[in-house]
Amino acid sequence: MRRVALLGATGSIGRQAVEIVEGHPELELVAAASGSQPLDGLAPLTQVGGDLTELLERAQPDVVLNAVVGFAGLPATLWALENGVTLALANKESLVAAGELALAAKERGEGFLLPVDSEHSAVFQCLEGREPEQVDSLVITGSGGPFRGRGREELEDVGPEEALVHPTWNMGPKITVDSATLANKGLELIEAHFLFGLPYERIEVVLQPTSVVHALVRFRDGASLAHLGYPDMRVPISFALTYPERAATPVPSLDLSQGLVLEFEPPDLETFPLLALAREAGERSGTHPCAFNAANEVAVAAFLEGKLPFLGIATTVEETLAEVDGAPARDVDDLLEADAAARRLAERGLPVA
Ligand SMILES: NC(=O)c1ccc[n+]([C@@H]2O[C@H](COP(=O)([O-])OP(=O)(O)OC[C@H]3O[C@@H](n4cnc5c(N)ncnc54)[C@H](OP(=O)(O)O)[C@@H]3O)[C@@H](O)[C@H]2O)c1
Repeated sequence: MRRVALLGATGSIGRQAVEIVEGHPELELVAAASGSQPLDGLAPLTQVGGDLTELLERAQPDVVLNAVVGFAGLPATLWALENGVTLALANKESLVAAGELALAAKERGEGFLLPVDSEHSAVFQCLEGREPEQVDSLVITGSGGPFRGRGREELEDVGPEEALVHPTWNMGPKITVDSATLANKGLELIEAHFLFGLPYERIEVVLQPTSVVHALVRFRDGASLAHLGYPDMRVPISFALTYPERAATPVPSLDLSQGLVLEFEPPDLETFPLLALAREAGERSGTHPCAFNAANEVAVAAFLEGKLPFLGIATTVEETLAEVDGAPARDVDDLLEADAAARRLAERGLPVA
């Protein structure tokens, strides 16, 4: 039996994780948490809001699936890594914000960190069993979101209802907006850097509009391995929860009988500047990625509330990054201060309602 604690159980990833757990007799849901919605006896231990590490202490799970959205997922990520409890990580924001601290906690805890983000699960699978010196570079793919192909002038008036319609994935509102701005690919770029230890210049982002190719790894001998499948998060969730067994899921494998056309294109960094801003924040290191994430969270929330235009999300992040000092965080207190400082700067730049 593998005892699972599911954080963010009421969300898009959380609900799919419940389905996976229910389908596998060897998985047992021992604890579940949400931010505000009731959990109605979903697990023997439940918690709505508050400090999720208290729930984890009580539950002592074998694996934590962190599917909380945003920086709020940080304490649970650090708790699992520090305690050597397997961490199935959907909450990319915590790794982006706390990269170095999280890796140090992982080294102390000596546990597993298994990515749930589909692209990173794909990279993880393509890299399994290879030596680092064989790897040339990673390619993270993205659909390009609902506004792929549009120019800046066509995005001036788009509102939340248009941004919340994703062409290939059905996800929570924050990540769906991040997909529309390409901030999500930016967060994933930084996430990949910390997960796989490659410098930014060896991680490329490419658009593949149907989301069938989730990632590629290029090797030094000229070969590339790719991970293909229908876009369905139950696959990477199940992979992480049942690792290394790769248990069966209800998701069909690719049907090639009708042919398969795969198209790739470069992202439009002028129309969607958040991807380039994330790369720059990652390369500048320190708490720049933390500030990128914090400003983006503030801006996306303001956009969803109708207080900020779509293009204002990138402007808010850019202006915040221009003002933060980005000094490395020595500890969690430093990191919390960097996050709070970036949020204050981002909020100051929002239009007054
Ligand atoms: N959805 C996807 O397909 C997908 C794919 C890859 C990665 N991810 C990542 O997975 C994470 C979750 O995404 P999602 O799409 O599932 O988001 P979502 O549908 O918005 O769900 C978010 C979950 O987090 C909970 N939550 C929010 N604030 C919390 C807090 N302070 N304490 C405890 N729980 C809190 C919510 O609880 P309430 O319902 O009570 O608010 C909800 O259960 C994000 O980091 C996202 O980037 C998602």
